[in-house]
Amino acid sequence: MDGFIKARTECSGLHIAPARFMRKFQRLKRLYTHLYVLGTWWPEYREAWLAPTRRDGRPDRVLDAGSGQGELALEFKRFGVPVEYYGVDLAVGDASWEFNVSAIADLQRLPFRASSFDKIVCNQTLEHVDEPERAVTELVRVLRPGGRLFLSVPFIWELHQEPFDRYRFSSHALKYLIEKNGLIIDLIRPMGGYFTVLRYLLTSQTSMSVRWWQPWRTLASLANHALRVFDMTVGGPIFYLLDQFDREPKITLGYFVHLRRPGDTLALPDDPYCCPLCVKDGEAPLARGPNAWICTQCAATFEVRFGVPLLTAQSAYQAVTDRVTSRAASF
Ligand SMILES: C[S@@+](CC[C@H](N)C(=O)[O-])C[C@H]1O[C@@H](n2cnc3c(N)ncnc32)[C@H](O)[C@@H]1O
Ligand SMILES: [Zn+2]
Repeated sequence: MDGFIKARTECSGLHIAPARFMRKFQRLKRLYTHLYVLGTWWPEYREAWLAPTRRDGRPDRVLDAGSGQGELALEFKRFGVPVEYYGVDLAVGDASWEFNVSAIADLQRLPFRASSFDKIVCNQTLEHVDEPERAVTELVRVLRPGGRLFLSVPFIWELHQEPFDRYRFSSHALKYLIEKNGLIIDLIRPMGGYFTVLRYLLTSQTSMSVRWWQPWRTLASLANHALRVFDMTVGGPIFYLLDQFDREPKITLGYFVHLRRPGDTLALPDDPYCCPLCVKDGEAPLARGPNAWICTQCAATFEVRFGVPLLTAQSAYQAVTDRVTSRAASF
């Protein structure tokens, strides 16, 4: 978008005013996101995972690891970035969610061949996995050499999607996980500092009010609404400005990390799927039927439910919901 605006500005004097306006508008939009959006849509993080990685002009094959309701797919669409999209999730998250996935799968045993993806994005999911180290090793296995991995994890965040909420991560724990798996860190950033955390605490009431005596609960709820209105107006900018003084935060909402697998190859297998139970002994293809996918090596049968293959050991799949829909692979 910036390149487009620049080209128009340089080509014709007539376009200078609208182009300048557009550039300012983009900056304002970025600022707005900084001021008012807490969490994973941090602008520089989103811009990084949206950017294509392939040099041959083909769309990236993307794995959304822990895809939840499929918001990432919608973002690629919204920004007009063509991708070959695969979203996997165990569908154990929020009971009210409409899961939107290509397959039900466990991050600790991915049903994909080695070096199958150009890019993997794993947002706010590692904290839910029993053994995050195993999940990171799996993500690295299925990423092609030279591919990019984008991770975001919480540090201060209320318990959510219980009981499947296991961990919080310090930057040091993250570096340990990353370096152990031989990845190159391009960037590691905290999601705000002291004042962003303070703002989060002031505007999220869920963790506190439950046990309170009713009148206090009502008062707390009213105060919380007032704080939210304050936050959506002048509070956001004030906290944002104050946060600029916290140069190296010791407390933050979380981290986002831009990673790269060493090496460089653009080749990907045509069909990335393989049997998740056989990956240790080779990459066994799956025969696909309308009601089940069957491993051609160990003969394991993976049921197709809600139009989606359940590519996981039955014991791992504990769906709290039947609200699962299938996500198209390319757009
Ligand atoms: C906080 S949500 C994040 C969803 C999405 N990435 C987002 O940012 O909106 C965590 C997700 O992890 C999924 N999950 C939990 N354990 C998992 C596992 N072992 N393998 C795959 N997904 C898992 C949950 O079902 C849930 O959708
Ligand atoms: Zn098998």
